[in-house]
Amino acid sequence: MRYDFATPIDRRHPKNDWSSFKWHRYADDVLPLWIADMDFASPPEVIEALQARVAHGVFGYGQVRDSLREVMCAWSETHYDWPIQPDWQLWLPGVVPALHLASLALTEPGDGVLTVTPIYPPFLQVAERTGRVTQRAALRPPQEDGGRWSLDLDALEAAITPRTRLLLWCHPHNPTGRVWSHDELAGLAELVRRHDLIVVSDELHADLMLEEGASHRPWAALFPDLAERTITLWAPSKTFNVAGLTAACAVISDTNLRQRFTDVAKGLQPDGNVLGLVSAEAAYRHGEPWRQELLATLRANRASLIERVARWPGVRMAPAESTYLAWLDLRDSPAMEGQKSPQQQLLKLAGVALSDGADFGWPGFVRLNFGTTPSQLEAALVRMDSVLA
Ligand SMILES: Cc1ncc(COP(=O)(O)O)c(C=O)c1O
Repeated sequence: MRYDFATPIDRRHPKNDWSSFKWHRYADDVLPLWIADMDFASPPEVIEALQARVAHGVFGYGQVRDSLREVMCAWSETHYDWPIQPDWQLWLPGVVPALHLASLALTEPGDGVLTVTPIYPPFLQVAERTGRVTQRAALRPPQEDGGRWSLDLDALEAAITPRTRLLLWCHPHNPTGRVWSHDELAGLAELVRRHDLIVVSDELHADLMLEEGASHRPWAALFPDLAERTITLWAPSKTFNVAGLTAACAVISDTNLRQRFTDVAKGLQPDGNVLGLVSAEAAYRHGEPWRQELLATLRANRASLIERVARWPGVRMAPAESTYLAWLDLRDSPAMEGQKSPQQQLLKLAGVALSDGADFGWPGFVRLNFGTTPSQLEAALVRMDSVLA
């Protein structure tokens, strides 16, 4: 390995106290495997680019450099087989702000904003926060051991009303890690056409495919006839662990849709974070060898987790096909009998902080972030053993 994914970096010690939400939310003796950032340093090339930019010393307003737009085009073509144009890109301070802006720009008050559950919690909040109505359809849970979560088109169909306007789609999916099959996506595309929906395709986890040889295909690339009603969201934040630098990219090929989105965004968000934009360019330009080693580390962590979960009676987990998030079903765990919140129980009894499935629309589940060093993961799993084994 050329890069170090094994040595823990102390993100909590007072000397290192750079205010990590993940590490400072809970007491000092708790191991945090909740919010989706990783415990790894970003690629050295990203750190060097940031150091050079900081050494410049002047931090006035910046703008998106052509070279960043070009490197994003090259990444899309190489990794997703989707040639995009520089001017399709709108650089933003985050993916979640983009979800909200899309709702404001592309729907009317009272319209329905549709999503599937379980889902990354902000998807369930966008509609209410923007004066629209949340509409949700459950995914189909695994039908047998070793099965996977799947898209339930009938449930989606049933959730749709004449006011449904926008689909917030997570591709690949947080929290199940599903990489949707072509059949599932084609079924969804048919439904989008028939109900005349606009799609926000949040593809933030696209560069974290865990199956060897798997590659991501953007929604807009798979269904070119739907590209004119699609906003695609990408960011270097998950892959290269730069979430705190707030840089994300909305790709909108349709001029009219792009204009509507830009008009609403005016005044509601700052111009680019100069450090975030520098980190994004360095990550997409130089980060590929680092990303490959990251994937090897995540695959090994996932294997350790699968082995461990198999020893916990009544606990089920469909192995993540992408990203560093695992979605655990604790509803039949004898250790959780009578407990409303497995997340609270594990926090109290094991000193491990996970994300509560209730926030994703499915109580009784937890989400575990395995984007950490193997030794830190092992320490947390040993603690969980004491409760679940
Ligand atoms: C699917 C998904 N979208 C958006 C976000 C957050 O993105 P941002 O920090 O750019 O708002 C996350 C973070 O975990 C996520 O998993």
